Amino acid sequence: MKQILILSLLFTLFLGCSTQEGSRTAVLLDQDWKFINEDVSGGADPSINTSGWETVSVPHDWAISGEFDKSIDVQETMVIEDGERKAMLRVGRTGALPHIGVGWYRKSLDIPATFKNKRINLEFDGAMSHAKVYLNGEFVGEWPYGYASFGIDITDAVEFGGENILAVRLENKPSSSRWYPGAGIYRDVRMVVTNPVFIPQWGTFVTTPGIQNGEGTVHHSITLVNSSGKEASVTVETEIFDKDGNNMTVASEEVTLLGETIIDQTLEVDSPRLWSIESPVLYTAVTKVYLEGKEIDSYTTPFGFRYFEFTNSDGFFLNGERVQLKGVCLHHDLGPLGAAFNVSSMHHRMKMLQEMGCNAIRTSHNPPAPELLDLADKMGFLIIDEAFDEWKYPKTENGYNKLWDEWAEKDMVAFIHRDRNHPSVIAWSIGNEIREQNIEGGAVYCQFLVDICHREDPTRPTTAGFNKWQAAIENGFADIVDVVGWNYKPQVYSFIHEKFPDWKMYGSETASTVSSRGAYFLPAIERVHYTREPYHSNSFDMEFPRWATSPDREFAAQDSFRFIAGEFVWTGFDYLGEPTPFNVEWPSRSSYFGIIDLCGIPKDRYYLYQSKWTDKEVLHLLPHWNWNPGQEVSVHCYTSFDKGELFLNGKSLGVREKDPSGLYTTYRLVWDGINYEPGELKVVALDENNNSLKETSIHTAGPPARIVLEADRTEIIADGKELAFVTVSVVDEQGILCPTANNLIEFSVSGEGKVKAVGNGDPTSLESFVASKRKAFNGKCMVLIQSSQKEGEIILNATSRNLTGEIIKISTQL
Ligand code: GAL
Repeated sequence: MKQILILSLLFTLFLGCSTQEGSRTAVLLDQDWKFINEDVSGGADPSINTSGWETVSVPHDWAISGEFDKSIDVQETMVIEDGERKAMLRVGRTGALPHIGVGWYRKSLDIPATFKNKRINLEFDGAMSHAKVYLNGEFVGEWPYGYASFGIDITDAVEFGGENILAVRLENKPSSSRWYPGAGIYRDVRMVVTNPVFIPQWGTFVTTPGIQNGEGTVHHSITLVNSSGKEASVTVETEIFDKDGNNMTVASEEVTLLGETIIDQTLEVDSPRLWSIESPVLYTAVTKVYLEGKEIDSYTTPFGFRYFEFTNSDGFFLNGERVQLKGVCLHHDLGPLGAAFNVSSMHHRMKMLQEMGCNAIRTSHNPPAPELLDLADKMGFLIIDEAFDEWKYPKTENGYNKLWDEWAEKDMVAFIHRDRNHPSVIAWSIGNEIREQNIEGGAVYCQFLVDICHREDPTRPTTAGFNKWQAAIENGFADIVDVVGWNYKPQVYSFIHEKFPDWKMYGSETASTVSSRGAYFLPAIERVHYTREPYHSNSFDMEFPRWATSPDREFAAQDSFRFIAGEFVWTGFDYLGEPTPFNVEWPSRSSYFGIIDLCGIPKDRYYLYQSKWTDKEVLHLLPHWNWNPGQEVSVHCYTSFDKGELFLNGKSLGVREKDPSGLYTTYRLVWDGINYEPGELKVVALDENNNSLKETSIHTAGPPARIVLEADRTEIIADGKELAFVTVSVVDEQGILCPTANNLIEFSVSGEGKVKAVGNGDPTSLESFVASKRKAFNGKCMVLIQSSQKEGEIILNATSRNLTGEIIKISTQL
């Protein structure tokens, strides 16, 4: 044991940050990578000179710093899902950032001679894309799907006792995506060192078959590999711990093996606590392998006790109770950070979603970063874990169709093995709006993936998101999956239910309402696929593309049909690329679909969902109150209250009640045709006897006078990674938000941190995200501050010409 500790310490000194769990060591390969954004002949050759290469840390997205360029990845396509009949030249579809091309990464690894008999596995959580991995010039493995997590055993190519050169070549082809995929080693990479007898990556599978009857039986299936070449007899012992580290139970098995073997253990936990949305209780199974009494491996598997079912008549049940899925779809990019994964950014996003009442995420349309599922387990989110947006038939010329034949099964298996212990995962989504829906014989591919899911995980249902409902029914797709997901079909939920009463169904994609934060166009009316200059959609949340609808219409369907298990709104956050409805209009380069904008500032819609999805008292007025005198203005109130009275400068403009006879009056209070005059607009929520319950008001702003900073936290961890999100507002002398201000704000930071990125949520801005200045968009922008690795204080100073600046302090804790 002492020897292992010393080795591990040595190893840490050699390589950097490591976690050591008993007899295995995981070293995070996050620092000191060399990178070049071009193809290099002999890029894997250890002897080439890399002095001209950039030094970067991983996760890394080589394209996010820009520059935006209209000519990048222009796609001449006809998107049949959009109802298009002829091909259009789409700009900004994949974000207009320089993600196309080849990038090489290299890293020097000093691997001590004492590791000579170890196994060494490199674990990539994701590399975009077509990863080819080399060690000391020798090709050691590849994995082309950019969203997949994969492992590569490099043992046979290692030079023990010296420097090893790891090289990774990535390549993104044009026309290979429908949104911004990112570029580079954009998730964590680890080197995992084990003994020759070991539990491989994702080598455990925990199930809790009796929990529906209150039984704490745990089935634990463990894959064990003996790569030593000679038979070994080992003891495999699993202990289960509760969240406080108390030992609940233990099981032990003797096994003699050579090569690969699977061991099944059964354990009993007394009175297990259930994992739920409100109380996401986790347990851990710690498996140790002993050879002649000495521990030779140790593997930890977090898991939870819970049971769930989708029903045909009454939606979704978790632990016996009906839960409405109040979900959002999320793409993988993190706005100003691009695809480079950052746990604190994802945590920040999920906290905002949870406060809005969201309880579920569909990882559209690909395997997420593994940390998203860890967060979901800990925070109490339900996950539809999605694998693909494309199978064998192309949506984009160089998309997954090129990989399907060789990789579909490998990708699906790796994905399920990686994610099947997460209590948050409630279904495997095998695809989104797959082209095979419309193709005769396409159901064969659907059946192929469903069979893999059932084989690799008999405990969870399969699903898919269908947009062509008739085709999906006719060709058998909808019957093959266990739970049917409908994209944008509130109008046929009941028709389908009547025809197929046994089907379990939910809205896998809903709404797709488009808006730009703080951009209001009068009058507030419903518009379909509407473009205007400037290229912004109306924040009254009544605009959407042809196939889509407003939140209100989906709410009405969800309220009417209990057999629908819930909805997944397209999307929780804006994302890079797919700037519908401005598909051909430059400089639109990111989506307008988000409930929250690209940099993380809530749009009005946030409060509409919050008023519907939570028990909170919500009273939110829109638009802003800076118009031309006499102008007719529509006023909407997103509220949890049923009734409200509007006042302009103290004068009543009438009482409104929610009224199901009109679509936009069912879930909102609406006053149209208000004659604008500057001053105070106030809404008072009333009970049925007209007693006032709560009030809120907005005011006419004067000229921009000063900057206000508001950090999501005043303390962050000093790990060199954690972020604080500081919202910057331009306000007048009285502190009222200037709703159209676009002042350029400059940031300087001293102390233990730096500006990591900036953003403002404007889908047409061509300013770089990697900068220390940003223009406000409709009065606001965002700066992301990252800690250094030292304890202390970060001082952020925001300044702008003609405005009074502001300073904010954030402390960093080890
Ligand atoms: C859906 C598609 C999504 C996104 C969305 C935009 O049809 O599945 O990926 O493109 O439309 O409304």
